[in-house]
Amino acid sequence: MKVAAIADLHCRANSAGTLKPLFQQLEQQADVIVLAGDLTDSGLPAEMEVLLEELSGTTRPLLAVLGNHDHEGDQAAQLVEMMAARGITVLDGTACEIGSTGFVGTKGFCGGFNMQLVQPFGEQALKKFILASIDEAVRLENALAKLQNPKKMAILHYAPIRETLDGESPELFAFLGSSRLANALDRHRVDLIVHGHAHHGAPSGRTPLGTPVYNVSRFVLLRFSEFPYRIFEL
Ligand SMILES: [Fe+2]
Ligand SMILES: [Fe+2]
Repeated sequence: MKVAAIADLHCRANSAGTLKPLFQQLEQQADVIVLAGDLTDSGLPAEMEVLLEELSGTTRPLLAVLGNHDHEGDQAAQLVEMMAARGITVLDGTACEIGSTGFVGTKGFCGGFNMQLVQPFGEQALKKFILASIDEAVRLENALAKLQNPKKMAILHYAPIRETLDGESPELFAFLGSSRLANALDRHRVDLIVHGHAHHGAPSGRTPLGTPVYNVSRFVLLRFSEFPYRIFEL
C-alpha cells in the first residue's frame, strides 16, 4: 500500500484553486492520502469549505488529524463534521483499518522531550497544560492497543521526538511536541510515524526504540525536495 502524507496545508479562503493540482498528484501516486494537521489556517468553516472543494477530485481514502491552527477558530467540532460528511476519517485518539493496515492518529500536544519533559507540578494552569499532553498520549496508546494489524502507521500533528525539530528555535521545543507521544508509540510496535507542525524542523528521525519518524510539514519537505509531500510504502 502506498501512502502519501502531507502536513500544514494552512488552507485559507483565498486558497481556492491552489491545492487541487497537488491533490491530483497524490491521487495518482498513492492508495491512501494522509493529512497531518493544520488543514486550515485559522480553523474557520469557510476555510474548510475551500479545502473540501480542492479535495473534491480525490477518490482515495483520506485520513486526517487536526492541528493547532484547526482549533484557532474554536469550531473544531464543525470542521470535523464537515470532513466526515465528505468521507474523510478524522483520527482523534482513534484508529482505523484500510485493508490489512492499521492507522492510529491524534493531534498530540506540547510538553517537551526526555530530560526536559515538563511535569504537571505546581500551579493549576501548568498542571492543566501538561494533563492535556498526557491525555493525548494516553488516548493514542489506548487506540494503538486495539490494533492487531501486521502493518501500522501513526499520524500526529505535534512532534513525538526532538530530532525532527532541529532547525527550530530550542526555546520553542516544549511547544512543538512531546516525547510522551514517542513513549506511547514505542510501547506498541508501529512501522512508521508522521507529524507536521514544525515548519522549520528536520525531515526525519527515530524514536528511542528505532521507529522511523517523518516530519511531513510541506514547508520542511520543500526545502529538501521538489515535492511538498512524501510517499511511503507500507
Ligand atoms: Fe502549521
Ligand atoms: Fe501546527
